Amino acid sequence: MTATRQPTILLLGSGELGKEFVICAKQLGCRVIAADRYAGAPAMQVADAFEVFDMLDANAIKRVARKHKPDFVVPEIEAIRTEALFALERSGVTVIPSARAAHLTMNRDAIRSLAAEQLKLPTARYAYASSQDELARAIERIGFPCVIKPVMSSSGKGQSVARKAADIAKSWKYAIDGMRGDKQTVIVEEFITFDYEITLLTVKHRASTRRRTQFVPPIGHRQERGDYQESWMPCPMSPALIKSAQRMAKKITDEIAGPEGAGIFGVEFFVKGNRVIFSELSPRPHDTGMVTMISQDLSEFALHLRAVLGLPIPAITMRGPSASAVILATKDINSEPAYLGIEKALATTGVEIRIFGKPSARPYRRMGVALATGSSVKQARQRARDAAAQVRVVAAAR
Ligand SMILES: Nc1ncnc2c1ncn2[C@@H]1O[C@H](COP(=O)(O)OP(=O)(O)O)[C@@H](O)[C@H]1O
Ligand SMILES: [Mg+2]
Repeated sequence: MTATRQPTILLLGSGELGKEFVICAKQLGCRVIAADRYAGAPAMQVADAFEVFDMLDANAIKRVARKHKPDFVVPEIEAIRTEALFALERSGVTVIPSARAAHLTMNRDAIRSLAAEQLKLPTARYAYASSQDELARAIERIGFPCVIKPVMSSSGKGQSVARKAADIAKSWKYAIDGMRGDKQTVIVEEFITFDYEITLLTVKHRASTRRRTQFVPPIGHRQERGDYQESWMPCPMSPALIKSAQRMAKKITDEIAGPEGAGIFGVEFFVKGNRVIFSELSPRPHDTGMVTMISQDLSEFALHLRAVLGLPIPAITMRGPSASAVILATKDINSEPAYLGIEKALATTGVEIRIFGKPSARPYRRMGVALATGSSVKQARQRARDAAAQVRVVAAAR
């Protein structure tokens, strides 16, 4: 990048996390092209330009890159044809955090094998299966209950818990119906009865920058149907356990980012007793990290952008107990919905609402998030949950 050129970012995936990232990028004077499979996606609404194409189409990615000549390609979703990212990297474009990181984290099996077998991080026991019969045999080793997930999926899609032999066929079908991409493989994991789970946001700077790794304090969260419902910070956790999670996060992000890979990572752990168990990671802002929009001066999106552009992060300042709670749709709405109850939600001190602006709704689709501060985590969580419950997603009058 020359000093006179405005940094140009091509964002691959334009959901709510991308939207907040674009807002940060626009605040620091970048030019952003937002891409997704459908028009009107949240991040497109705040970008300079948008492109609609399938991220699994390598030629389409290359064509759009030739057209807009980005300095940075920032993946926002997992399901991307990563061959195109490697090609862009070879041609001198900076892929965030790196084409290799996007490639390794796209499929659950690649990152799990790397974490458990190569880096020896503690994980749930697991096996892979590419047919229903293989799944049944794998479960004989893992035991019941177990969690079955397509190797390529996100937000709990295709994920189920099998408790007995009779559940296997249903779990297999559910996984295959919920998968992205073309790899008909599932991971089956031992069900961990954890005490709580956390996301450890880990910021990676290029090796040329003085400090290589920075951490945000752990974020506690609660999931339903494999999808995030609420998150909070600070998450009560002993310093020794935090250290252990940080060590693991550093080890795996060092490995997959390489010396030049920059950006934020959401590293997920289960905590059970005095054991910290690695679960998965995303080389980008994390949905549970939306709480940082209210909990601290630099949100996970601002941190990601600074790391991408190689800008300093002298300190991350916490504002105090904070929480987020998701606003979900309850029915199918095939046009841009309207939102009732925002006025009631905002009447409480410390509450903020973010509506993502998705052009349609279906049951359980995440349409917005309520954010809250409080004098304790308990109060912040209650405020965020109450505010989220006030907001209703309805069909707009025409
Ligand atoms: N092995 C497991 N044991 C217990 N709970 C699990 C296990 N795997 C996943 N979960 C639950 O499901 C959630 C989503 O699973 P995850 O692997 O993070 O998928 P995604 O990529 O969709 O976020 C986790 O945050 C956790 O609450
Ligand atoms: Mg997850």
